[in-house]
Amino acid sequence: MKIGLLTGGGDAPGLNGIIESCCRGLHQNGVTVVGIHDGFEGIFENRHQVLTPEMVAGIHAEAGTLLGTSNRTRIEGRDKEFAANWERLGLDGLIAIGGDGTFAGLRQLASGLKMIGVPKTIDNDLAGTEITFGFDTACSVIAEAVEALAHSARAHRRVMVVETMGRTAGWIALGGGLAGYADAILIPERPFDESRLRDFIRAQQKNKRGLVVVVAEGVFDENAGAHLAKWIERECEWEARHVVPGHLQRARSPTTTDRFLTLTMGIEASRMVLEGAWNQGVVYRSGRVGRAPISDFFAPARRVPADHRWVQLAENIGIFI
Ligand code: F6P
Repeated sequence: MKIGLLTGGGDAPGLNGIIESCCRGLHQNGVTVVGIHDGFEGIFENRHQVLTPEMVAGIHAEAGTLLGTSNRTRIEGRDKEFAANWERLGLDGLIAIGGDGTFAGLRQLASGLKMIGVPKTIDNDLAGTEITFGFDTACSVIAEAVEALAHSARAHRRVMVVETMGRTAGWIALGGGLAGYADAILIPERPFDESRLRDFIRAQQKNKRGLVVVVAEGVFDENAGAHLAKWIERECEWEARHVVPGHLQRARSPTTTDRFLTLTMGIEASRMVLEGAWNQGVVYRSGRVGRAPISDFFAPARRVPADHRWVQLAENIGIFI
């Protein structure tokens, strides 16, 4: 048996962990793994290579992806070309590691292609799974930034604003802000209540030398961190600076949590290949890695529910949210 493996969309810590665990899991069972380069581009441009266990040994600790990836996920209008190129590869199935863009691209081909999906995004907003790998590492980058910047904030009697990634979802801001014990966390799922935030910051000013406020990029149309820092200076008369960790949130060696997740998910994907469980996705639900129809990934982005237990935790410890 020969199986294709591709990584699509933005990189996320843990992609290499899935590549290593899938390859090693399949190779032990006599399956050849063909790595497709740069997401769908490798299929359109016929760029691929056989992955040996020696090639993947130890890559689980590295950020990025050995295979390369691409945000160009459009297959629409090129379905016939895609199908013909796929046919020529002579593969028995595909393991696609990607986020909503990759699965939206593959959606129209789902009936004609034997595939298994592995969900990936630092944003943690993919439908069908409660956790995606890369998210924990992104949160740890934010927590570290919050804790470090608290020192600078107190030294200068300032407010430090940290802008997180996450697109329309506030998972990274909430997870990273909580883990770092930020003073305030603003997420797009909760309306920006100017007067409540103004009152909170002014009250803090009386007895604190500095504050750290985490804001998700989706809270404002653009430049959320810069926008909020200006707003704080103007409305609260407290000097403020902003920091944008940006792509560092995707560029770190994965945390142990992400390593366990990718090890388990990669082995689950290889078991699914061996069992012929096609057109399903590897998911994390109720504390376990399992499988579900791949169509579960096609639903709209999963955002932070208003009554999520992390929102309650923030409230319980006195973090503004
Ligand atoms: O979806 C992952 C993500 O990192 C988002 O959090 C962010 O908005 C976007 O990708 C950035 O994309 P790019 O790498 O194209 O700048």
